[in-house]
Amino acid sequence: MWRPPERIRYASQTGRIPSREEAERSLLFSPLEEGRLSLAQRTWVPAMVPWRATEDGFVSDAVVAWYERLARSRPGAIVVEATGIRDVPSGPLLRIGHDRYIEGLKKLVHAVRQASGHKTRLFIQIIDFLTIRRRPEPEKFFERFLHVTEAHRHAVGDESATDTEVRARLFALGESGWKQALTAREFESLMQGYRDRVTDEELPHIRDLPKSLPPLFAAAARRAEAAGFDGVELHYAHAYTMASFLSRTNTRKDGYGGPPDKRLRLPLEVFAAVRVSVRPDFVVGCRFLAEECIEGGNEPDETPAIGAAFATAGMDFVSTSRGGKFEDAARPAVNAAAYPYTGPSGYECMPQFISDARGPFGRNAAPTRAIRDAIRAAGLRTPVVCTGGVHNFEMAESWLAEGVCDVVGAARQSLADPDWTLKISLGRGAEVRTCEFTNYCEALDQKHKVVTCQLWDKLDLHAAGALRSPDGKRRLVAPDWPG
Ligand SMILES: Cc1cc2nc3c(=O)[nH]c(=O)nc-3n(C[C@H](O)[C@H](O)[C@H](O)COP(=O)(O)O)c2cc1C
Ligand code: SF4
Repeated sequence: MWRPPERIRYASQTGRIPSREEAERSLLFSPLEEGRLSLAQRTWVPAMVPWRATEDGFVSDAVVAWYERLARSRPGAIVVEATGIRDVPSGPLLRIGHDRYIEGLKKLVHAVRQASGHKTRLFIQIIDFLTIRRRPEPEKFFERFLHVTEAHRHAVGDESATDTEVRARLFALGESGWKQALTAREFESLMQGYRDRVTDEELPHIRDLPKSLPPLFAAAARRAEAAGFDGVELHYAHAYTMASFLSRTNTRKDGYGGPPDKRLRLPLEVFAAVRVSVRPDFVVGCRFLAEECIEGGNEPDETPAIGAAFATAGMDFVSTSRGGKFEDAARPAVNAAAYPYTGPSGYECMPQFISDARGPFGRNAAPTRAIRDAIRAAGLRTPVVCTGGVHNFEMAESWLAEGVCDVVGAARQSLADPDWTLKISLGRGAEVRTCEFTNYCEALDQKHKVVTCQLWDKLDLHAAGALRSPDGKRRLVAPDWPG
């Protein structure tokens, strides 16, 4: 992962630890009742893909165990990891693109209900993503994938060369020559691997996204409802299709790109299609980027209006994230695919302890507060969830007190210690295993390996009943807290 050149080291802090009475009186452990969203406390476990679904995208026992473990501390809400809405192979990423996935998801819902004593609200993040290919061998790229044009003939200085000759001569140019001879897009396909963009309107499946996506999202939400979830989180963040429609980089010419109102059009149409497809009390919210953190992307001057538009349309919550884009992703190895969390925008999404002067904790707080302010200025009380770097009570409580958000999301801290909020609520915050923001977990995520935390994955490795990774070297869920 990319890291800021300043390389300043930060240590997580336990902060002031409240007594049980103080925790009981706190904002963090107070209930939230707003429209369809009702939470017993304002703690939220945001979506995290732990890479433990089956190769066909079904819920496995390890998936159930992961959510059951998170639910034992009864957080206000858990959002199940990004789950694909299409019925297409996508490796061990959960899927909800067909009715055959409902049974497995029901098991997951049941486990969370039991473990949380029906206290935790359970949502599922539903996602669409476009085709991305692995970085090809250069030889293969020139032999098979490159569509030879007159520009290439011109580049090799032989207008009468055959396609085969052009391919061979281009290949012989080497990297510096390729940069000159190929278009920027061709060069990117060669060095990063090809990927579809929402602006590729000449491709029928991309042109038709405004028609195909609303029913796909609506069907996925209906399946989530059938499986027993309390609601869905529409994934409008990071490097994926809906975030790309929202982005300032979306220049589509068909009324779904360009000015802000046009870029909002499909996200609002998807929401409308989902809303009418599910029962009236089913929660529908979204996750979107408070800041894209790429050149030419959405900046905090524009995202408050996006949040206000979602709230005005009737979303039940908005949850924010930042960055996580393909545009600045690191160049992958040959035969590997680019990953959106490997560049500077990826760092913004999951900053680690080696950072810059702004540090890794709370980078998303100010832009999220601006979004919440815009929603309130529009006369709406839509709850806002902010995530990023939270790892202690003091920080979470200050966000709520200062109006950054209404609900506090903690991803890595919940992975490091799934009981952390329970411990704090009982006045036993000194026992919290505090996340060190090393991003060991994120490195596993990048390799699509089962995600665990270095603070516990070797503890009691051979305890009876401990689920282990396929190589047997890591346990898959945190050890029990005797309480
Ligand atoms: C292993 C891992 C998987 C993640 N998967 C998702 C995901 O499926 N959807 C999503 O919106 N964010 C995902 N995220 C981002 C987190 O939800 C969160 O925004 C980010 O980790 C920053 O919050 P934190 O500092 O509390 O960890 C993931 C993060 C991690 C560490
Ligand atoms: S591996 Fe554990 S300690 Fe390290 S960043 Fe991930 S959750 Fe935090």
